Amino acid sequence: MQTDSSFTFVLFGGTGDLSMRKILPALFEAHRAGGMLADSGKIVAVARHATNRGEYIQWVNEHVKPHVSKNGVDEAAWASFLERIEFVNIDLGKAEDFVHLRDAIQDLPGIRVFYLATGPSLFVPICHALASVGLNVNSRIVLEKPLGYDLKSSNAINDAVGEIFAEEQIYRIDHYLGKEPVQNLLALRFGNALFEPLWRREWVESIQITIAEELGVEARGDFYDNTGALRDMVQNHLLQLLSIVAMEPPHSMDSDSVRDEKLRVLRALKPIDPRDIGKVAVRGQYHSGVIRGTAVPAYATEPGVKPESATETFVALKVEIENWRWAGVPFFLRTGKRLADRVAEIVVNFRAVPHSALGASALRAGANRLVIRLQPNETIRLYCLAKQPGEGMNLASVHLDLAFDQFFREGQMEAYQRLLLDVINGRLALFVRRDEQEAAWRWVEPILNEWKASNKPPKPYASGTWGPAASSAMLAQHGTCWLEEEN
Ligand code: BG6
Repeated sequence: MQTDSSFTFVLFGGTGDLSMRKILPALFEAHRAGGMLADSGKIVAVARHATNRGEYIQWVNEHVKPHVSKNGVDEAAWASFLERIEFVNIDLGKAEDFVHLRDAIQDLPGIRVFYLATGPSLFVPICHALASVGLNVNSRIVLEKPLGYDLKSSNAINDAVGEIFAEEQIYRIDHYLGKEPVQNLLALRFGNALFEPLWRREWVESIQITIAEELGVEARGDFYDNTGALRDMVQNHLLQLLSIVAMEPPHSMDSDSVRDEKLRVLRALKPIDPRDIGKVAVRGQYHSGVIRGTAVPAYATEPGVKPESATETFVALKVEIENWRWAGVPFFLRTGKRLADRVAEIVVNFRAVPHSALGASALRAGANRLVIRLQPNETIRLYCLAKQPGEGMNLASVHLDLAFDQFFREGQMEAYQRLLLDVINGRLALFVRRDEQEAAWRWVEPILNEWKASNKPPKPYASGTWGPAASSAMLAQHGTCWLEEEN
């Protein structure tokens, strides 16, 4: 893909963790690949821990280079990448300093992208300061999550940013939407005639969506302890995945067609009745345990975490969608830190055949199931029933596998690379629109409120397990179990 869209990419928070691990490596990959970034495109860093370009470049060499290209750095490409980088020394707290930023970039060609890889408390002041020097025109603004803490605070940010930038200029990142396998989910659903007719309540018994992590809170204890898994993962990543799994076929892949359909799903989520919360929501917190042979500490002893913390590091939910396609089909969502494995997957459990002409063994052998593994090792596995060889009609569950790396050996793109290219090229489809974000907050908020009001601590689980027993018990009530408990 050859591009001539010139750009000036202004990176606020240029020495932050996200810039170091994700944003700058993604821009480097796009640069190295060739043809994806216009030659004239510039990256202008605004950062706290550097005072001039020389210092910043030194920081990039020391901190970003180790995160690029797993297979070794292409030194020539790295050197030419550094030439794209400029640095502006401004104090983000001083609106008058933004004059220096304007002077530095006003003659650069192309669209301006302002990437706010800063704490959310700086979003509004930065937007105001940009507007005060006229930088809110011919520009796009990228906002990282968390965008607010609840519906009210997220509305406050969106209102304030919305006074300065039009919705079409605002790119709210949910990096799950940039992942190749999530894109592939759209291809699976809407590029094949095979699945869509069955993708509904008549044929689907239940759906599971899991994002499990082995990692704990790492160095983010402080942030995480005020956030918790529901805000960190469910309000955004899990509900976005759910809306892609459940949405109606969009008319096209343009930004608003896809986002309109996702929004319809989010608005159709059955509100959770606070009286039912114990039946449909489980929250847990990890205690010490062992992961891959290594002892790991309890959440409450992690740096930055209050010892008496009641923050959840695990959530399991039963969600229902109130529309014709999905009425009565439970969607089980689950996410947690320090679980037994790192895996993100979607499991579609189909109904058993309505009548088994093949006898009891056919029923015992189960039903069809489609497992879409998003990470690691992107695969799609379709479980079917087959006759076991030999006498009699005994059935067993067997599977067809589609391992994407066997078909496509090259061209995989990291989520941030895809999303940053989309911002530069003005493609909004993979960014969260304000109304989607509001609908998601509106749905999760009663759960947050109820948990807070109830004053009950989260259920403990040992690190290296699949979370509290109550999570399995919730599925058992519906006659099912999480996929990994199947055998
Ligand atoms: C982030 C969360 O949005 O997603 C993190 O803030 C989490 O807590 C991360 O670890 C998971 O992303 P991925 O791409 O590693 O699955």
